[in-house]
Amino acid sequence: MLTPKPTQGNTKWFVHDRFGMFIHWGLYALPARHEWVRSREELTPEHYQRYFEHFDPTLYDPREWAKTAKAAGMKYVVVTTKHHDGFCLWDTQQTDFKVTNTPYGKDLIGPLVEAYRAEGLKVGFYYSLIDWNHPEFPIDVFHPLRSRPDVEELNQQRDMAKYRDYMFAQVRELLTGFGKIDVIWFDFSYPNREPNGKGHNDWHSEDLLKMVRELQPEILVDNRLDLPPENADIHTPEQMQPREWVKVNGEPVVWETCQTFSGSWGYHRDEMTWKDPGQLIRMLINSVSCGGNLLMNVGPTARGTFDQRAIDALTVYHDWMKLHSESIYGCTQSEFEAPQDCRLTQKAGRVYVHVFAWPFRMLYLDGLADKVEYAQFLHDGSEVKFDTSATTHAFAGDSGDRNTLTLHLPVRQPDTVVPVIELFLKD
Ligand code: GLC
Repeated sequence: MLTPKPTQGNTKWFVHDRFGMFIHWGLYALPARHEWVRSREELTPEHYQRYFEHFDPTLYDPREWAKTAKAAGMKYVVVTTKHHDGFCLWDTQQTDFKVTNTPYGKDLIGPLVEAYRAEGLKVGFYYSLIDWNHPEFPIDVFHPLRSRPDVEELNQQRDMAKYRDYMFAQVRELLTGFGKIDVIWFDFSYPNREPNGKGHNDWHSEDLLKMVRELQPEILVDNRLDLPPENADIHTPEQMQPREWVKVNGEPVVWETCQTFSGSWGYHRDEMTWKDPGQLIRMLINSVSCGGNLLMNVGPTARGTFDQRAIDALTVYHDWMKLHSESIYGCTQSEFEAPQDCRLTQKAGRVYVHVFAWPFRMLYLDGLADKVEYAQFLHDGSEVKFDTSATTHAFAGDSGDRNTLTLHLPVRQPDTVVPVIELFLKD
């Protein structure tokens, strides 16, 4: 089975746990029309201030969030400490643009860290390299003030070095003020986007990374700092489903795909492309069957709650994971080839067959006839009979024996979104 080259951080737990919760929360939950609203609508600081003045999520109960995440089978959380709009969810000493100065008046991050840890989840921080609020951050292609006629003059008064100091100080705060942090998720670099795209030269990514590793030696760092790929512990294809192990320069890497329930990371009231239960479960399975993780996003509301649609989606994971987590945790891409409409995962002594489209009675698995000692459904532990005789294949009009194992399935699909058959391998 494939094993990526070791990196500097500790990926051991990460490739075991496979499933995490992403949280995008901030002032953009109030306009509730995408976390990029400040940029998309080119909102002025004066306009955006109204969300700051009305931010009061009195229903926020991170213990409930953490319990929900755990129940859904998620093993880690990555939360936005600051998104591109610049709003800080902790009591940072570097700016007044922080939650403690809103009507809510309290730190959001500390209680969240504590609550998720109490449920046994690992904790990661998302930190936006981009900052549309900081007065020293040079106005660029994405900046809300990009259309102003005086951009050049404004930029002459902005000093990237000062913003950088701010950023380094904030990252230091985050990595020293909340105990052990398992992941830091920097977002993002765009050195080739005109005007004023930003990359490692602007962020001083080498120094930033050095500081991060000094402060938190085991931490996992993502790949969005615009550094050569070997610097990253985890690679992060976004909003897409790989069909094989993600490779960088031809080498398999540790990877995690991040996804949303609907088409926005922040809470979006009117966005309607919510994924259905089948898609949700298949995305998780597909990621693990390609050797990767799934980081599934929730965008909490301005009241501090998970929207009912998000709760429904998390319940889908809960129901499925309760019976099937064995085929996810500790599993990776299988050495065997998946039959039509199926995905395989594998761990020591076991292969898991995830059936995406239910076939009629027989499922053929090439290359496994001499390898399997027993087979059962994961959801109810009931035996799945199989045979390895060439006559079965001949009878089915199959051209030749490819060491084929034939599973005999019930006509009707068991009542679960994606049924899984567990194959016990011979020693
Ligand atoms: C993109 C977006 C951002 C989101 C991120 C998550 O980079 O800029 O809004 O936080 O994806 O991966």
